Amino acid sequence: MIKIDNLTKKFDKSISLDSVSLEFVKGDSIALMGANGAGKTTLIRSILGYYHPTSGGVLVNGLNPIKERTEVLKHISFVPQLPPPIKLSINELIYYVCKSSGADKGEIYSYAERMKLDIKSNLHKSFFKLSGGMKQKLLIAISLAKESEIVIYDEPTANLDPKARDDFYNLIKENRSDKLSLFVTHRIEEVEELVNRKIYMDLGKVVSDERI
Ligand SMILES: Nc1ncnc2c1ncn2[C@@H]1O[C@H](COP(=O)(O)OP(=O)(O)OP(=O)(O)O)[C@@H](O)[C@H]1O
Ligand SMILES: [Mg+2]
Repeated sequence: MIKIDNLTKKFDKSISLDSVSLEFVKGDSIALMGANGAGKTTLIRSILGYYHPTSGGVLVNGLNPIKERTEVLKHISFVPQLPPPIKLSINELIYYVCKSSGADKGEIYSYAERMKLDIKSNLHKSFFKLSGGMKQKLLIAISLAKESEIVIYDEPTANLDPKARDDFYNLIKENRSDKLSLFVTHRIEEVEELVNRKIYMDLGKVVSDERI
């Protein structure tokens, strides 16, 4: 479903991805690990068509994520490491998401409730005024409601309290199916029972890729 071929990404002279080649197939559930600055987020942003490769390339279901970004993003649910500065109110954001991706509003509400995020009393609040954990919960609820065949989580639990982390992983376990899931994490013990593949990066390279 995702083919990364000799992908190199440089910012000025510093190299963030160094000839990375990987193939992710349906049913893969991957923990992507590595030290701060290893290139994990850069790899994900390249998959999403957010960064142009310096050389090499990425294909998602055979499509180029830069040239065919809208089509590619239809198939991906993504929760970023840092929530984007969205100025819309929660109400407006949910309306927009449902309109543009076909996600079900009721499902967003019910996933949010499972993570103890009270949407109803915050409907008119701007997304950017929510707490870090609340933003993350809302983005997770949206990502689950979108029911995509590819789900990418870049340190999704970083801002969550311990209870919310458990709630999140319980939801993921219930939702497990034939899709492709990619979890960037620094806490392997949290995703251990969810993944069947572990990839380690260091200094922009894949240093280990192990199926379990
Ligand atoms: N837009 C950018 N401009 C310049 N340098 C960048 C940019 N994005 C990433 N980098 C650099 O690429 C390298 C890898 O960063 P990246 O965010 O991919 O690391 P990471 O593995 O996700 O780390 P972390 O665990 O801290 O999230 C870093 O040296 C970073 O400074
Ligand atoms: Mg990162």
